Amino acid sequence: MRLDKFLAEAGLGSRKEVKQLIKKGVITVNAQVEKKDKTQVEPESDTIAYAGEILHYQKYYYYLLHKPAGTISATEDKKDRTVMDLFKSQDYRNDLFPVGRLDKDTEGLLLITNDGQLAHELLSPKKHVDKEYLAQVAGVMDRADQQRFREGIPLDGEPTLPAELMIDAIDEERRTSTVRIILQEGKFHQVKRMVKACGKEVIYLKRIRMGRLSLPNDLAKGAYRELSREELAQLKSSE
Ligand code: URA
Repeated sequence: MRLDKFLAEAGLGSRKEVKQLIKKGVITVNAQVEKKDKTQVEPESDTIAYAGEILHYQKYYYYLLHKPAGTISATEDKKDRTVMDLFKSQDYRNDLFPVGRLDKDTEGLLLITNDGQLAHELLSPKKHVDKEYLAQVAGVMDRADQQRFREGIPLDGEPTLPAELMIDAIDEERRTSTVRIILQEGKFHQVKRMVKACGKEVIYLKRIRMGRLSLPNDLAKGAYRELSREELAQLKSSE
């Protein structure tokens, strides 16, 4: 791999920025100053350092974020705070992006990565990866609604894939329901629109699981952490 590519992927800066660093003579390869950006390096075996500090090569990054309400699932936004604004500068990279969208008022599990292939596999309806949501609903959901979810509800002129509606609790007095919904796709406002099609309204929504990865109880709203190897393996085997 070219030295400048290695340095950019190690998070040292953009390709242009790392070329400047190489020119300045602050990069060493196996303890020798290297001033050519085209130099080929072997990430596994060469020791590459910036100002004396050894750089570790990692191509893909995977973070589990507990998205708080009020943030946008995008990499940038002119008006609102994005989920990327929650990242500390030492973890931020400009190739990171959120896997799928949660609405501004939705909370919960959001994967942030630079691995486009994994993102595609988790989001493609053809891969049948579960997305599980916890919802508070105004209105009493019932067996007929469960049947509608199982059959698929017409949205945008075609039925959704079969989805699961589990009714965890009903508050008869307040006429509200606590439900869990499992989808295998992610149409725009899908949970809210499916519930609306049943004549009820989502008043709180949180994603609690994606494939085999659940939102950990000890991850505070707004906090994030890198996935462990086990969690990544679980996620990759989610289909
Ligand atoms: N469905 C919705 O309606 N909103 C979300 O944020 C996610 C799924």
